[in-house]
Amino acid sequence: MTSSGEIIELAKRRGFFWQSSLIHGNVSGFYDYAHLGSMLKRKWESEWRRFFLGLDDNFYEIQASVIMPEAVFRASGHLQHFVDPVVKCGKCGNTERADHILEAELKENFEGLTPEEMTNLISKHKIKCPKCRGQLESTGVFNMLFPMKVGAGKDVQVCYLTGETAQGAYVNFRQEYEALRKRLPMGLAIVGKAFRNEIAPRNALIRMREFTQAELQIFFDPDTMGEHPRFDEVKGYRLRLFPVDSRKGGKILSITCEDAVKKMKLPRFYVYHMARIQQFYLDRLRLPGNRFRFRQLSDEEKAFYNKHHWDIEIDLPSLGGWKECAGCHYRTDHDLKGHQEVSGQSMVVDADGKKVLPHVLELSFGVDRNIYALLELAYREEKVGKDTRSVLIFPRLVSPFDAGVFPLVKKDGLPEKAREVQKVLEDSGFSVFYDESGSIGRRYRRIDEVGVAAGITIDYDSMKNSDVTVRDRDSMNQIRVKIEELPGVLRSFMKGSELKGLEKR
Ligand code: GAP
Repeated sequence: MTSSGEIIELAKRRGFFWQSSLIHGNVSGFYDYAHLGSMLKRKWESEWRRFFLGLDDNFYEIQASVIMPEAVFRASGHLQHFVDPVVKCGKCGNTERADHILEAELKENFEGLTPEEMTNLISKHKIKCPKCRGQLESTGVFNMLFPMKVGAGKDVQVCYLTGETAQGAYVNFRQEYEALRKRLPMGLAIVGKAFRNEIAPRNALIRMREFTQAELQIFFDPDTMGEHPRFDEVKGYRLRLFPVDSRKGGKILSITCEDAVKKMKLPRFYVYHMARIQQFYLDRLRLPGNRFRFRQLSDEEKAFYNKHHWDIEIDLPSLGGWKECAGCHYRTDHDLKGHQEVSGQSMVVDADGKKVLPHVLELSFGVDRNIYALLELAYREEKVGKDTRSVLIFPRLVSPFDAGVFPLVKKDGLPEKAREVQKVLEDSGFSVFYDESGSIGRRYRRIDEVGVAAGITIDYDSMKNSDVTVRDRDSMNQIRVKIEELPGVLRSFMKGSELKGLEKR
């Protein structure tokens, strides 16, 4: 098993991500994406957009400011409720999240308990400061928003960095509804930064103070919650569910969407989107099914405004097992109602002649956690003959580079031919890595290490026959393909076709 330290070290060595501003000493919780990490993240985000914006022709992406006035966070409830339980050591002053200390000591999840309940548990189990074994004080609360002063002199205004991208969609809801088709459901997606002053950032991309979210807010008429026009497409599809009452046994249920509606009393509108989320992970990103589950949150764990809340968890042994990477939240009318009250502007809209205060279904993804998961799932050390090959088996669609192009030797016109092939591929929209140094075996190893999906070699036969060798990173199988057919073959390969079936097109 690979540890989180090894994943973080690998990310640094190969150029995926590392701590920010390190040359000046760092502030924890901030990470920079290096060249490969940026490419991987951009591709994940593109696939997310393609998939989720493609669900409905009334779903759009917007970009909102990350700095917003105080009123936004009064309306959202963040000023009062966006707090973590903290506990301080009376001896050394070390301050940590009380639920994390409890979890580390008692091996259970204590999220959602009140500060008083945490203080009682700490005292009952005689839990001490993990740093100096000193006495812990009572559990208090700490607001995670980053405040800031905007402007100067008498014009100064208190603002905050947003703690979730969601608020950007809510403050734009009314204007977008007018500018768009005045039709529900309407979806507003934001792929952008969120900021939280986490007390204990840890595990690199897993708990950060500045991170990227990809969130889709779906505004809909609550009277239509029990239906979805495309539900039939998913009704027989099996969801992997881990409901609250399965926790003791640890068993994941495989249950059709139709049964999730009938037996678990979940609304069709909600279940339809759960199915699409699972399809995004299993069909689009090809995550192994047994590494994926929806985990239902208990009433104590979920935010008070969420009526239905299932997290999307991926099994990541480097972090001790299942880790939340996304969430499916039915937020009711909490958000629009709050903004309506504080701004004094009505959020009630006219939908086909009916006055509606829309409800929100939120599909919320932590991009950075997904990137960490991709790295952990991709990393392999494999025996190849007498050698060991180190390879990153990313889903092809998100591999940082689609293809590596290599001339077999650095002479006799092979590099020029290889550059031509590179151009053909780049002109067709592929991301291509060119390398002419070292033996061909070394060059294959180099692209395997950074997860390039296909290796393309130009040899002497290429000069005569205008064809190339294409090698699959994962199986190491190779086929011969005419250069003119290469973009089509590579496109099918990137979408998941096996090389063997593409040989004779
Ligand atoms: N708008 C809803 C919302 O923000 P959340 O559960 O607080 O809900 C959504 O966050 C996702 O964002 C999480 O599932 C997780 O993947 C990611 N996330 C949350 N806090 C994070 C942090 N401190 N660092 C990295 N990712 C985080």
